[in-house]
Amino acid sequence: MSDQARYPAPAEWTKRTRLDAAAADALRGRALADPGSFWLEQARRLDWIKRPEIAGDWSFNADDFHISWFRDGRLNLTLNCIDRHLSTRGDQTAILWEPDDPAAAPRAISYRELHREVCRFANVLKGAGVGKGDRVTLYLPMVPEAAFAMLACARIGAIHSVVFAGFSPDALAGRIEDCGSTVLVTADEGRRGGKTIPLKASADEAAARAPSLKAMIVVRVTGAETAMTDGRDRWYHEAAADVPADCPAVPMEAEDPLFILYTSGSTGKPKGVMHTTGGYLLWASYTHALCFDPKPGEIWWCAADVGWVTGHSYVVYGPLANGATTLMFEGVPNWPDASRLWQVVDRHKVTTLYTAPTALRALMREGDAPVKATSRASLKLLGTVGEPINPAAWRWYHHVVGEGRCPVIDTWWQTETGGAMIAPLPGATDLKPGSATLPLPGVDPQLVDADGTLLSGPAEGNLVITRSWPGQMRGVWGDPERFFQTYFTTFPGRYTTGDGARRDADGYWWITGRVDDVINVSGHRMGTAEVESALVGHEAVSEAAVVGMPHDVKGQGIYAYVTLASGHDGDEALRQELSQWVRREIGPIATPDAIQFAPGLPKTRSGKIMRRILRKIAEGETSAQALGDTSTLAEPAVVDDLVANRVEQP
Ligand code: WTA
Repeated sequence: MSDQARYPAPAEWTKRTRLDAAAADALRGRALADPGSFWLEQARRLDWIKRPEIAGDWSFNADDFHISWFRDGRLNLTLNCIDRHLSTRGDQTAILWEPDDPAAAPRAISYRELHREVCRFANVLKGAGVGKGDRVTLYLPMVPEAAFAMLACARIGAIHSVVFAGFSPDALAGRIEDCGSTVLVTADEGRRGGKTIPLKASADEAAARAPSLKAMIVVRVTGAETAMTDGRDRWYHEAAADVPADCPAVPMEAEDPLFILYTSGSTGKPKGVMHTTGGYLLWASYTHALCFDPKPGEIWWCAADVGWVTGHSYVVYGPLANGATTLMFEGVPNWPDASRLWQVVDRHKVTTLYTAPTALRALMREGDAPVKATSRASLKLLGTVGEPINPAAWRWYHHVVGEGRCPVIDTWWQTETGGAMIAPLPGATDLKPGSATLPLPGVDPQLVDADGTLLSGPAEGNLVITRSWPGQMRGVWGDPERFFQTYFTTFPGRYTTGDGARRDADGYWWITGRVDDVINVSGHRMGTAEVESALVGHEAVSEAAVVGMPHDVKGQGIYAYVTLASGHDGDEALRQELSQWVRREIGPIATPDAIQFAPGLPKTRSGKIMRRILRKIAEGETSAQALGDTSTLAEPAVVDDLVANRVEQP
């Protein structure tokens, strides 16, 4: 197998990071043998108002369940991400912004300017009545103001909930209401790939359904004509003109909540994953430093949107805590053409690029010419995140994009983990294409079988984490029971990731994908239950079952089986209508790739839908052997109809 192909850590990286394979192993050993002192030592990466003397205090067991890190410590995140850099690198660029339109001017915001912008924003929030512990929802495009707003919340101890600007008004309203936000920060419009997105109009629609909302702050991005509601809405630039450019940082307990980020699970509505201040910030900073070794003068580019956890940890918090220059990109990889990412690399002399496999697969399809038309000489390191990277895409990234010079750092992690968990260290870890390689020091992944029995040596099974780490999520907003139920009951005493994995003979980890009803579409998590619930909300639909299917570019696509209510015809027009319906209900990322009209779904006699069979059919595996035993179905004949009417990948 491809287990044999090894790319040794380059000597210049070993020299640069002063961490070779043996030193990395020693660090892993020490972190697990004496976690208390290891993590208190790591905590020195941060500036504390009161330095903690307690590291982790946690138990994953039902009778004593609790998780805290550095709970006697006090800090403010923005003192770490901004103020402490002012004396050493106040004039260095903190945020470098590349606009959607390559002909428009980039913006460079120095740490000193960032300090003023964040303080102003914090004062505007205060003016809107926001205080410590209050929730603020951000619905913003990729403009620097998105980072200012996040940091402004942290400055005054407010809790931000960033909602990806591609989500629908309904999805936004649900997320505002769930955490009881009183203030929404949005923009007139966003820009992406040469198009504009009417954010304020969507925000107005959401506000009508979200009674908790009292105020809206609107950032002017495109200058489009925008309706403002008197007494509720205020332009950011007008409000900012009236407030001081300084704002004291509120001292926070390490365990005070920092943000909520909604993510999809196997069941029910998206849950508000809650992270706290000290442990999360340390994790973002520690993992960014270990995996990517940022250096002054270098340009770090994480191409994720701040609407996802990757944007939180690696566009904003990790790099700024580490005093890096972080590039923020408003656009998309394939506009105006397939060369855009590499043009941006050249324009800003990007040193490290961190992006998703789906983007690489899409660009790979366009051939090597758009890459080779650029220099990319500044690149030293490459990274990926969000989904398993297939070895072909890995090799293309390494050989064509990086010209064989840059290690590929494949980082496995989740919204719940706060930052990278399994990933190579550039100077220490030999790479294998498609493997996230080894756990970071302090991370203790294990494999268990379906019964929860621990597997040793080379094996494949369910990926669990057996001990807490500082970046671990601390709760589901408003639903502590759901936190415990979702993550700690399947395999008692362990954190269940929901992923499957294989460990090879060298101890390398290969993530095989989700084992639950979550699908990963272009690196974005989608709960099948969410799409099903949107579909059955349409009057023509009586029942729906959604599964993932293999997709060349997206990794996984959304395959929906739909049973219609009587009186409706399953024709092409209805298929289009249902697609549009889901798009409107959730957002474009949830648009089904295939809809199959099915007179019946395969159910057990107790009425449970056999998803295993639906998955196989969607994957195109329709032999009797692949489908397995169907004799326990209430109506085995429905399977023949499903197979006969299967929809090919478009
Ligand atoms: C998947 C994104 C393989 C995995 C940071 C996980 C990966 C889910 C990788 C979390 C990777 C993320 N290799 N699979 N390097 N990175 N995943 O919460 O299934 O949006 O559980 O966090 O993405 O997605 P989330």
